[in-house]
Amino acid sequence: MLQGTVSIEEAASKRVLTGFRPTGKLHIGHLFGNVKNLVQLQDVTEVFVFVADWHMLSTDYDRGEELDVNTSDLVVDLIAAGLDPEKAVIYRQSDLPEVAELALYYSMITPLSWLERNPTFKEQLSELEERDISTHGFLGYPLLQLADITVVKGEVVPVGEDQLPHLELGREVVRRFHNLFGAEYFPEPMGLLSDASRVPGNDGRKMSKSYGNAIFLDDSPEIVQKKIRSYITDPQKIYLKDPGRPEVCSVYSLHELFTPPEDTAIVAAECRAGARGCVACKDQLAGNLNATLEPIRKRRAEAKQPGRVDQVLDLGFEKVKPIAETTLEGARDLVGVGNSRAARGKSGVLDGSTCSGHLTSNDQ
Ligand code: TRP
Ligand code: SF4
Repeated sequence: MLQGTVSIEEAASKRVLTGFRPTGKLHIGHLFGNVKNLVQLQDVTEVFVFVADWHMLSTDYDRGEELDVNTSDLVVDLIAAGLDPEKAVIYRQSDLPEVAELALYYSMITPLSWLERNPTFKEQLSELEERDISTHGFLGYPLLQLADITVVKGEVVPVGEDQLPHLELGREVVRRFHNLFGAEYFPEPMGLLSDASRVPGNDGRKMSKSYGNAIFLDDSPEIVQKKIRSYITDPQKIYLKDPGRPEVCSVYSLHELFTPPEDTAIVAAECRAGARGCVACKDQLAGNLNATLEPIRKRRAEAKQPGRVDQVLDLGFEKVKPIAETTLEGARDLVGVGNSRAARGKSGVLDGSTCSGHLTSNDQ
């Protein structure tokens, strides 16, 4: 096991949480990434999945008007991919102000140098040249992420390898919180890695929306076939009779994921023997991929019913809100803020009767 990670067997008895930025459609790389683990785990343990809409603002702060549609699309994709809102708790980050409050406490205790040495921060600063992300929010991103995780006391976080440094930093901040405030309050979150890196795009690179090589969960059967036809194969195999090398062929990598093992063995043998053409090989793959996507297409149609997304997010909210509130009560207690009011049995929010007295038209 890579340091700071657990196996799926270990995760099966833990509280699992992950977030997705609402930045666009899910593709088949996601399916073999975190989504597959989540779908598997929702039957055996508590799974929390949320739309990380505030996280999108950390880089795309001027594109807030897209959040609504992107959030709906993401929820539809997650349900289509097999997450069951009755089993997994599906919610929206910005529905929980507790997350922002917890992130604020973390920001008070985290040395700047810890954030500045975060490799993702440095990389992205140079990569995303076209926008200014030398912002407070972007630097503090790992703390917001830690608040996401710890607000439900999440123990295991399905993530890509690029996110492991964030989790490492998160564990350090949790330890600092405990040292400062004298309690073991939060679990130290561990990562659960997926095999998403095994899903290549048509150019042989890892499938990614930003490379323009993605096959989306909502692509039609015809589009899927067309995209598969555009894959590069073994460059040494030009004619059917040329012997090929499945181990260097992206189409073969996908056969390993979408084609039954007996058939995959035949693909390999025929390819090596020069007894199989690449076009037929691709069409066979497209057929199998489309068969995998068929149940996803059905669930998508259901998830797209008017009102369904709101219903799912409301249900998730009802389940997660009391957990977040309880976590924050304890956290405030430890940090030392805001407790006198709570102790007097008052809520933190002014009720209507208090408000109406001094609301004037100027205030509105
Ligand atoms: N950082 C993740 C990404 O960019 C999204 C995310 C936000 C997340 N908060 C999280 C993932 C908490 C896991 C846990 O994809
Ligand atoms: Fe790849 Fe199939 Fe062509 Fe072999 S026959 S190189 S596995 S596409």
